[in-house]
Amino acid sequence: MDSTDSAAAGRARTATASANANIALIKYWGKTDARLHLPTTSSLSLTLDETWTTTTVSFDGGDGVQDVVTINGLRAQGTAFERVHRFLSLVRERAGLGEAEAASVTSTSMVPLAAGLASSAAGFAALAGAASRAAGLDLDARGLSRLARRGSGSASRSVFGGLVRWNRGTDDETSYAEPVPCALDLAMVVVALDTGPKAVSSTEAMRRTMRTSPLYPAWVEASATELAEALAAAEAGDLERLGAVAEANALGMHATMVAARPPVLYWRPGTVAVLHEVATLRQAGLPVWATMDAGPNVKVLTDTAHAAEAAAALGGLFPEASVTVRRGGEGIRYEQPGS
Ligand code: DP6
Repeated sequence: MDSTDSAAAGRARTATASANANIALIKYWGKTDARLHLPTTSSLSLTLDETWTTTTVSFDGGDGVQDVVTINGLRAQGTAFERVHRFLSLVRERAGLGEAEAASVTSTSMVPLAAGLASSAAGFAALAGAASRAAGLDLDARGLSRLARRGSGSASRSVFGGLVRWNRGTDDETSYAEPVPCALDLAMVVVALDTGPKAVSSTEAMRRTMRTSPLYPAWVEASATELAEALAAAEAGDLERLGAVAEANALGMHATMVAARPPVLYWRPGTVAVLHEVATLRQAGLPVWATMDAGPNVKVLTDTAHAAEAAAALGGLFPEASVTVRRGGEGIRYEQPGS
């Protein structure tokens, strides 16, 4: 879309947007184009409820010299600042604004940052919504998904609620997310063992895996079939089939990184203990399957009918962990100016 005209005609200047985190059932792990965040595989995720990041962007001159970014009350520095600044520059360029039009960004997140709990997905989706509106860009949901992707790949999916597929595409235009049908009332039990920042960022870990892991090509190849199976299972309301393929895909992704050089091992002893208990609960008849991202925490896929029972069981087994139930959540939403 070309919004230079609308930007010049009447910029909102300030906008606020909120987006939820999402957890992939079929993972995104690796890029064919690092600048555009084009993934090697298509992926599938569930947007969670109650995991909002809310972000306000004002093109108000920033601190008089440059952009100012405040996350959970702290001024962002270093890489965190650079990522947001680069993203704002992309929005400025699209909206026909000069670099002199610096912005103030204020972001509040319910999700611990950089702990493998999908904070960057919610963060960049909310930033894409707020920054594009503040700059006067009038993007539709697909355009917003493409823009959010430039901040963080998984953010392309947080634009939408429920079950969401990110089509890998072949260029900036064709790589976007969209909602897909789901006959299940899915839920996730998040078993947070450690919410401190991770030692290796997902961006670095996937780059290293692609470059050095002999297992990576096999995971990519399996992923296409696994995605098709997951989509079919979700549409047919087959939780068991969906859970099994999601768990296999996540464990396969971790296998690729363990085989990288140097290895990326996000698992802690507690991670392995939770994986074993999930399998035990499943053998006892509870429909639960594990998935994990770039961190030691385990998210357990189930449906809303079984989520409380699964959470109680896991909370009892792991009293040191924070165990929360999340259901399917909404996509991006905006606060009306003045409200
Ligand atoms: C393991 O979206 O954080 O959570 O595009 O480099 O910002 P960048 O990576 P990011 O990677 C998420 C990886 C994952 C799997 C997933 O969410 O699909």
